Amino acid sequence: MNVLGIESSCDETGVALVEVDGQEAPRLRAHALHSQVEMHQAYGGVVPELASRDHIRRVLPLTEQVMRQAGASLGEIDYIAYTRGPGLAGALLVGAGVACALAAALGRPAVGVHHLEGHLLSPFLSRDPPEFPFVALLVSGGHTQLMRVEDAGRYELLGETIDDAAGEAFDKSAKLLGLGYPGGPALARLAEFGDSTAFNLPRPLLHSGNLDFSFAGLKTAVRNQVLKLGTNTCEQDKANLAAATQQAIVDVLVRKSLQALRETGCTRIVVAGGVGANARLREQLNAECAKRQLRVHYPELALCTDNGAMIALAAAMRLQRGSAAESTDYAFNVLPRWPLGAA
Ligand code: KG4
Ligand code: ZN
Repeated sequence: MNVLGIESSCDETGVALVEVDGQEAPRLRAHALHSQVEMHQAYGGVVPELASRDHIRRVLPLTEQVMRQAGASLGEIDYIAYTRGPGLAGALLVGAGVACALAAALGRPAVGVHHLEGHLLSPFLSRDPPEFPFVALLVSGGHTQLMRVEDAGRYELLGETIDDAAGEAFDKSAKLLGLGYPGGPALARLAEFGDSTAFNLPRPLLHSGNLDFSFAGLKTAVRNQVLKLGTNTCEQDKANLAAATQQAIVDVLVRKSLQALRETGCTRIVVAGGVGANARLREQLNAECAKRQLRVHYPELALCTDNGAMIALAAAMRLQRGSAAESTDYAFNVLPRWPLGAA
């Protein structure tokens, strides 16, 4: 069975072809991605209308590229999956519209997929796939959640952010430090040259006892430090503040992840979403888990940020279990706000 996946929820257009045979591990036949980062850079963040228009321009050429790379014909596609939400409404509508039109033209079912389900299942396309059940730490620009994952389609929310997401904390702090968009990778690069102990920043909800997160206070603390340093901030101060910010976020994410593993009794954790690419987070989580004989799984680096492969994969795994949201009438709506538990 071949599943074409289309992702267009934010600032990346992703298309991929995934193949599954019976109950065997899914195989990525080809994938292609266009990032809009350069286009949005001039505005310091994602401009929704520009994002939608760019998805329109990219999605069909990317689809042609994927089919060419896979050496597959359109007739070989059995299902067409698309991101139904959450995300930017206009951007989601582009992927959903194209997917349903293509599905109708080919006479194949369309499958709406939850974006976060894509992220948390994405390590199944890696060389070191997890086994169910596991804890998932989802850390993206819009979400910070800990879930218990019993199987594809069976998710229990353990805790989540009550204000900013971890990626947002990276992005907003980076902006305060005068770094470009997207801020996460830029802040992480600068942090390499800094001393994380030079500033004492808060670790919100670290000892709250529950598995919720809060990052808004951290951003305020970074703003106060930036104001205190004034306009003549030297590069070393900036690097130190970047390192301290990264360390505060990582400390909270690692501690709560270990707590979730302890509470659920799971021995594996999957880290997914853009912040999962953060080297410091990986280093610290790997070290803490190794001490406790716990396994950590990540998606391949190329599949850490938004992509079509994870959407095709999530649909394929749901189809294998008979629990996919298939549609053959090609009517569609998108769900910009959509809790994963309701998917
Ligand atoms: O999952 P993603 O690509 O898009 C969303 O669905 O949000 O995540 C994007 C987020 C951004 O906030 C970005 O700054 C952050 O992931 N990010 C990073 C790194 N790479 C991406 N944050 C910290 N360190 C990184 N290396
Ligand atoms: Zn994402």
